[in-house]
Amino acid sequence: MSRAGSDGRRVVVTRALPAAWLAPLAEAGLELDVIDQHEAPSTAELHERVRGASALWVMLGDRVDAALLDAAGPQLRVVATFSVGVDHVDLAACRERDVALANTPEVLTNATADLAMALLLALARRLREGEALLRSGRWAGWGPQQLLGFDLDGARVLVVGPGRIGSAFARRVRAFGARVTYHGRRARPELDEELGARFEPDLEAALARSEVVSLHAPLTDATYHLLDARRLRLLPPGALVVNTARGPLIDEAALVDALRDAHLGGAGLDVFEREPQVHSGLLELPNVVMLPHLGSATRGTRQTMAALVTDAITAVLRGARPANLVGDP
Ligand code: DGY
Repeated sequence: MSRAGSDGRRVVVTRALPAAWLAPLAEAGLELDVIDQHEAPSTAELHERVRGASALWVMLGDRVDAALLDAAGPQLRVVATFSVGVDHVDLAACRERDVALANTPEVLTNATADLAMALLLALARRLREGEALLRSGRWAGWGPQQLLGFDLDGARVLVVGPGRIGSAFARRVRAFGARVTYHGRRARPELDEELGARFEPDLEAALARSEVVSLHAPLTDATYHLLDARRLRLLPPGALVVNTARGPLIDEAALVDALRDAHLGGAGLDVFEREPQVHSGLLELPNVVMLPHLGSATRGTRQTMAALVTDAITAVLRGARPANLVGDP
């Protein structure tokens, strides 16, 4: 792939991707500059590679800030992130430089809600511990009190952030018989009607009444450490915590403490406070199920996300407005 040229047609892609995903960009006559590796490039490499680019296809691990946008230069027209979350992007810096920002909403809703449900089921039915027992060779046969789990039928489940993914998770957990409460900025009458769900504007009151809490809020200044040490202790003893949104929504050190002293019954985590680092305390605990940020990781979902990204880039570069713009450029 050529890196030459700054004639308004160069698109920098910050990871190795399947050729089929990139094809629409090449078909649109754009020049591709792919950073051909699976791990995130260093800041220095990224700044060097973006120089003169008209479009950037970035990932969750890439920090898109004023320094990166300035390193690219004034010809940069669009940043398209391969994610629905945009907390790694400085929106104001994009706006100030008239750079459009696009993301991949909606298409990853079901995949992410499925994964949250998978984590909850794994915790509730102690899948990790059961499998470890089998693999250890120490299983002595069926036991009446062996690895007793938690009933989802009738459980009080709190959804924090009832947006697309939170609502899809609420539907799933309701299908398992749970009673759903949700907390967010506003009531969602459609959820109340469809699921018999209940809006609770007071997060702390909601936590005190919930046996399960699943986080689906975006990461902002207001949601950083939304579950801190004090709020984690408001949950009833034995409660389960699921996070498929963003790691910094939970104070990870406080979570480890609340799991260690068995105040919490378990945690199902797809995201971590300092990805890709994982708190060593979490690694030691048996009642934690962890995944390496796989929320949207299905073949079909990623393919559809790629199509949204290429649509956005080609639209902006031909002077059109893409459907999935974040805010106003
Ligand atoms: C996103 O796209 O923001 C999600 O974190 C994917 O899991």
